[in-house]
Order: sequence, then C-alpha cells, then structure tokens
Amino acid sequence: MEERIQSLLREIDDFKAKTKDELEAFRLKFTSRKGIINDLFEEFKQIPGEQKKNVGKILNQLKQSAESKLQQVSEWLESSSASETIDIDLTLPPIPDKVGNLHPLTLTKNRIIEIFERLGFNVEDGPEIEDDWHNFTALNFPLNHPAREMQDTFFIKKSAEGGGDILLRTHTSNVQIRMMQNGKPPFRAIMPGRVYRNEAISARAHCFFHQVEGLYVDRKVGFADLKQTLYHFAKEMFGKDTKIRFRPSFFPFTEPSAEIDISCLICGGSGCNVCKYSGWVEIAGSGMVHPNVLRNCGIDPEEFTGFAFGMGIERVTMLRYQINDLRLFSENDVRFLKQFQSVL
Ligand code: DAH
Repeated sequence: MEERIQSLLREIDDFKAKTKDELEAFRLKFTSRKGIINDLFEEFKQIPGEQKKNVGKILNQLKQSAESKLQQVSEWLESSSASETIDIDLTLPPIPDKVGNLHPLTLTKNRIIEIFERLGFNVEDGPEIEDDWHNFTALNFPLNHPAREMQDTFFIKKSAEGGGDILLRTHTSNVQIRMMQNGKPPFRAIMPGRVYRNEAISARAHCFFHQVEGLYVDRKVGFADLKQTLYHFAKEMFGKDTKIRFRPSFFPFTEPSAEIDISCLICGGSGCNVCKYSGWVEIAGSGMVHPNVLRNCGIDPEEFTGFAFGMGIERVTMLRYQINDLRLFSENDVRFLKQFQSVL
C-alpha cells in the first residue's frame, strides 16, 4: 500500500492541466467522495496495527497534496483564462492618460492676463505676507484711521506702535507699491494673486480669495484712459454687448475713486436675483492714483499721473460660468472641477 501511495504522490506532483475538464478529471480521480483517496482510507482500516503509523502519515500527506494541487491549478486556470480573453490589438492607439484640467479661477486669471497683455500690460507678482507699510500706509491709509477697518486683517505680528505690523495682505494693491518703489515710470502692469480677510465663510464671502490689480502710470494718463481700458476689458471678457458703468466711491489710495459695474449677464439688464434686480453687477474698484501714493513711492505727481483698479477674480469667474457659491472654488470637489474643460 505504501508503494501505491508513493506513486500516486508522484502522479499528483507531475499533474498539469490546461483546461477545466482536465482539472475536474483530477478531482474525480483523487479527492471526490468516490475517489482513490477515500478508497485508500477505507483500506487503511484493515491494515495491521504496527503499519498504521507510517501508512497513516503518508496517506494524510497524499490527501493534503491532492487538495493543494487542486486549489493551485484552479487558481492558475482562473487567472490565465482572464488574461487570454483580452483581445490585444497592438495597432490600436493607446488609451490616453487621464489629465486634470485647470481650475476655473486659473482659467479666468489666464484670460484676464491675455486681454491685458494685448494692451501692453506686464504681469507682476508680490508677497502674500506683507508689512503694514506696503499694505496700508504707503497706500494712504492714515495710521489708526477707520479706513483700515474696511478690510478685516489677519495679523501675523502686531507691533506696539501699529505701523510695523506683519500681516496677510488684504488686497493686491501692495504690489503697486512694490513696483513703483523698485522701478521708474511709466508702469503698465496687472498683478494677480491671493488675498486674505478675516471674514466668516459663506456663499458670498471667504477668508481668502483672488484679485487682480491693475496699474498704469505715465505722463498725462487720465480718467478717460481708465474708462476705455476697462470698457475694452469688459467687452473682451463678457461679450461685445456688455455695458459698463462707473459709480463714485471711496478708496484712500485713489482720487477720484469709482466702483465699476457691468450689465448683468444673466438677465441682460432686465433684473434678476444675481444682480439683485438692478441690472448691474460690481466687478472692480478703481480710480486715479492718489498723489500721496505716488509721492510715497518717490514719483512726482506733478509730472506723472495714473489709474489703478482691483478686480475680484472669483466674482468674474462666477459671472462667467454662472456659479452661485464662492465656497465651491476651494472645496476641491472633482464633480465641480471637472466641468471646466481646458486645453493644458
Ligand atoms: N484694493 C481694493 C480692495 O481690495 C480694490 C481697489 C480699488 C484696487 C481701487 C485699486 C483701486 O487699485 O484703484 O477692495
């Protein structure tokens, strides 16, 4: 009996199957209820006591090796049959890698840059962590003046006298100052970037958002230049039928100052909830650069004049794509983000 078992062990060891039928035949022969192994266990009951120990051992071994072979071969057949069914056609074009798309705010920023670059504006950059002087004082915000509270500031370091504070910039106007300090007029640039304000987060406000600052300083720059430049921008950005309107306003760094509205894109001016039934939506603040600001940067206001503006990139994007909640821009929800097709 021992010899028979040994030879069956070799047979199991050598067994290979290419099909499920072959494997089934193996199962029937060895491990099924009517298979050899069960017969051998029946026979085992009859053998003399002193042989039982040795024979029992190899009989168990036989059972185990038959079962594990069955398992092994069946797994192998499963996996190889799966790969065999894939029809590989090497002449097919490859499945392209999934690439992401640009964030809607980036798309808008790029479009704004494109429009202003054609008018001869450069793109400038400045720090988000700023000192009080560049964010406020140089922009003609007097120390301890309530105008500073127009913008709820995140302070990083407060100094005792107030003037030396370090803060997160509340607007991109700081870049105007840095540009004018470090160069010589004429200046013609836009300055996109992120800004921070200590505001509760809602559909309409966020503690960080994006602006694009514009600055044009040269001899004889007038309010008409500001108007025409922004009118051109509005038509390029929102379509040729877009109308533009200037409303008198106040900013410490411009005089005169104006807020700029465009005719509502949603209702075409007849009134809807986006424009709060006025037919107009605000997109930017603007004005003629205040002589004090020019002086603070070492520029003679008798010789040079300029205009400036600050536009909300979120606001423009919301109008452009009809988005009604500011929070969507920073939630990173792929279902939202993938709707903005862009060519990378
Ligand atoms: N800095 C202003 C703000 O954040 C926007 C602004 C208004 C910028 C008028 C300007 C400007 O350059 O001339 O609300």
